[in-house]
Amino acid sequence: MGINILGMGNYLPEQTLVNDDFKKFVDTNDEWIRTRTGITERRMAGWEPVWYMGKEAALSAIERAGIAPSEIGLVIFTTVTSDFLTPSMASIVQNEIGAVNAAAFDLGAACTGFVYALDTARRFLYTDDSLKYVLVISSEAISRFCDFTDRQTCILFGDGAAAAVVERSDKMYSCALGSDGSGARVLFTRNLAPAPEVMQESDFSDGFPEKPKHLLYQDGKAVYKFAVQALPAAFELAASKAGVTKDDIDWFVPHQANVRIIETAAKKLGVSMDKFILTLDHFGNTSSASIPLALNEGIEKGLIKRGQKLALIGFGAGLTYGGIILEY
Ligand code: UT7
Repeated sequence: MGINILGMGNYLPEQTLVNDDFKKFVDTNDEWIRTRTGITERRMAGWEPVWYMGKEAALSAIERAGIAPSEIGLVIFTTVTSDFLTPSMASIVQNEIGAVNAAAFDLGAACTGFVYALDTARRFLYTDDSLKYVLVISSEAISRFCDFTDRQTCILFGDGAAAAVVERSDKMYSCALGSDGSGARVLFTRNLAPAPEVMQESDFSDGFPEKPKHLLYQDGKAVYKFAVQALPAAFELAASKAGVTKDDIDWFVPHQANVRIIETAAKKLGVSMDKFILTLDHFGNTSSASIPLALNEGIEKGLIKRGQKLALIGFGAGLTYGGIILEY
């Protein structure tokens, strides 16, 4: 009951911001950012909408998969930075790429979005015989929601998109998904649609910290603490389901949030950092796009080869986490 990743593609915004560019907004420096996060530069969406980046990544994935858009039965789109509350990004891209026979919806699991979406794609493939191919797209423009006066947060994120075309396959596969909603208040972006003026005022508080308008709020230390246990746990849970150990895995493809988080996870798992695909230094944290961007880069560089076993492991707002073990 596994899947085959037929083709992948990506889209990266034209503009790049290096660490020193952040000196214009906040009191920071290249050395702090590099040593505390592992990030050197990141792409920033300028004119590019989230759906556009997703569309470009999708077209590349479809071409590499060697299929026609009309053969896609479902489009799943993940993002934490949707251009619209409605319609879905998936519906817009479905039309743009000519996937005329596809259903389409967005899936929200923050930075764990691609892992959740890939497993959702697999479940659709095995419960609907008429589906042949599912297109999973992850696209993010986090820069639009960053507080460029918050030096602990704004330096972390980057923008970009990646996509994968998947089909049914008897290759090995296992997945473990999880959530700890008690951590919802440590990482969020508020959707501030005010109640109509005719409604009565209330002093109701939802308990989330105040943050101006729509800007991203992060308690970095709390997320860090969660991440260093969630990343290895996501692997262990998926591995035990698959009946494999760390030694069976050729490549670990983790969510790229902070190189120190990945190093700590690698140490806990007893795995060499050489087995981890890292894109953090040049892309920063691109939320749900980070795992597929890393996966795509590993494939493009010839590191990840057919027949190898991969562990995709992620965590993010929610707080969510998840791991997939699959054969490429
Ligand atoms: O996908 C979403 C997942 N998000 C994450 O995984 C983020 C998880 N958290 C982290 O990666 C880290 O907690 C951060 C990178 C956000 C912060 O790193 P840290 O090692 O926890 O730094 P800190 O908050 O302990 O700050 C250490 C010092 C502080 O100064 P003082 O109080 O010691 O004087 C900060 O004010 O570093 C200061 N600082 C900075 N200095 C220069 C914080 N941000 C910066 C900065 N430049 N950009």
